[in-house]
Amino acid sequence: MIVIAIDGPAASGKSSVATRLARRLGFAHVNSGGMYRAVTWEILRQQIDPSQAGSVEAAVLRMSVDSGFTEAGDSFIRINAEMPDLELQTLEVNQSVSTVSAVPAVRILVNAQLRALAEKRPIVSEGRDIGSVVFPETPHKFYLDASPEVRHQRRAAQGLHDSIEKRDRLDSSRANAPLKIASGAHVIDTSHLTLEGVVETISGILCKSGILPA
Ligand code: CDP
Ligand code: CDP
Repeated sequence: MIVIAIDGPAASGKSSVATRLARRLGFAHVNSGGMYRAVTWEILRQQIDPSQAGSVEAAVLRMSVDSGFTEAGDSFIRINAEMPDLELQTLEVNQSVSTVSAVPAVRILVNAQLRALAEKRPIVSEGRDIGSVVFPETPHKFYLDASPEVRHQRRAAQGLHDSIEKRDRLDSSRANAPLKIASGAHVIDTSHLTLEGVVETISGILCKSGILPA
């Protein structure tokens, strides 16, 4: 199993960097945040209160879930035969995803999908706990960061309504798999780097580890 783990707070550049890096390596790109968003979307669709952990757990245990790779090499997840896409970036999902993803049953479900995908292909996987909890054994761990001001500006430039400070606070303070720098992770401050600059920095480190030819 080969996993490149990329973690970090909201708008640190994880998805953009992971996609580019995966294409360069010929690996698949696995977006774990998209899976937490898809579960949250289904919880909201069923009109379940995200703050009722017991109800969320009961719904999750009833969900029929499968995941795989698109032709482009990105992960997808299907829940109860539905594959949400643009709905995943809505304000409603942003406001509830940290609460839903703190429920242990939700993390168990997503982690099982992530590990199953990693069994099939080499992956670049991004999220909050990829290097610390899901694939702690991988030697290829990165933690992207950027100042709160820069991350705010990036979201605003995307035209998205997002409560990144609140999500970061909830994601960092939860008991179960909080956002943190995994042991052995390379920390990269992306505040003043372009996306290509971040990909180059990571590629340089991967060359030294032999995953990428020098
Ligand atoms: O793209 P952005 O960093 O804003 O968020 P995301 O990666 O789509 O993740 C959305 C939410 O899912 C996060 O705020 C976390 O609450 C949760 N998440 C998680 O708990 N663990 C992960 N490995 C990935 C995401
Ligand atoms: O996945 P995550 O929420 O960590 O970040 P993202 O969705 O990949 O990046 C958020 C936005 O910031 C995107 O529009 C990126 O193009 C932009 N970005 C950037 O301009 N420069 C960087 N070094 C990183 C991200």
